[in-house]
Amino acid sequence: MITKAVIVAGGRGTRFLPATLAAPKELLPVLDTPMLHFALEEAVAAGLTEIVLVSAPGKEALEHYATLGGADLRQALVGAPETIAVREVSRTLSQASVSIAIQPEPLGLGHAISMAADTIGDEPFVTFLPDDLVVNSISVAQQLLEAYEVKPGIHMAVERVPKESTIAYGIVDCAPLSIDVLSTGRLHEVHGLVEKPQPEDAPSDLGIVGRYIFPGSIFEVIRRTPPGAKGEIQITDAMELLRQEGTSAFALEFEGNRYDVGNPLGHMRASIEFGLRRPDIGPGLRTLLERALDESR
Ligand code: G1P
Repeated sequence: MITKAVIVAGGRGTRFLPATLAAPKELLPVLDTPMLHFALEEAVAAGLTEIVLVSAPGKEALEHYATLGGADLRQALVGAPETIAVREVSRTLSQASVSIAIQPEPLGLGHAISMAADTIGDEPFVTFLPDDLVVNSISVAQQLLEAYEVKPGIHMAVERVPKESTIAYGIVDCAPLSIDVLSTGRLHEVHGLVEKPQPEDAPSDLGIVGRYIFPGSIFEVIRRTPPGAKGEIQITDAMELLRQEGTSAFALEFEGNRYDVGNPLGHMRASIEFGLRRPDIGPGLRTLLERALDESR
């Protein structure tokens, strides 16, 4: 059973400057809940309670948030309204056992993940990129864990992306398994992986979304992975190397709505859609939006 997770939060958040001059991007809230919290909640709900948070120098507030638990948390919430949201947040933070690994320099996603090697050891683990927020009654992490049970190996979540956007994603060359082996989502066997290809070089329109399961052997492979796209050590290249060396790799076309909260427009889309669904602010937000749209015509 997989119980370990890595949440990658070492990036500099340049798309959210100037806010990220002082605040880590992962603590920017969608409505009232930090982006980081959605990843913590998804991990804990999937039984992944041993969590390594990969952070970076200057992002100490992340550590402060993720390691709030027990007495500290109760103290921080003294006088706060006992809302359902606050109770649920407390439960998640109390259940997660989070350790911090620091990525000293931004050398790429593969490099960031390798910072967790000492804590994870030789076990398989789930990796989360908090920029990708997916809403579904069965989380992507749970969907990936089911796929891993059926087919051990490397797993990555994928969804179809517009052809002109392949330069923003890891793109997967794959074929669907002939029989449906999952209760949620569709599993493909991976035959090749390429990071951020030009549209004309992309082997498909299936782009990787930030949820993975890696075997512990990924760490040794990352150490041998040369810099790739953007001159960075890419996890996509490390997965491809591990696959070429004989580890099976699978792409899960998951069920759920994905929000790219790593850029201001995607972040705003999530805030608006989540807000419209919330009984406490939905009706008010709808009125505000309708008025704003009328006035901007
Ligand atoms: C990273 C990965 C990429 C993946 C993407 C998902 O890219 O390198 O393969 O498709 O996350 O969000 P980034 O968005 O950090 O440039």
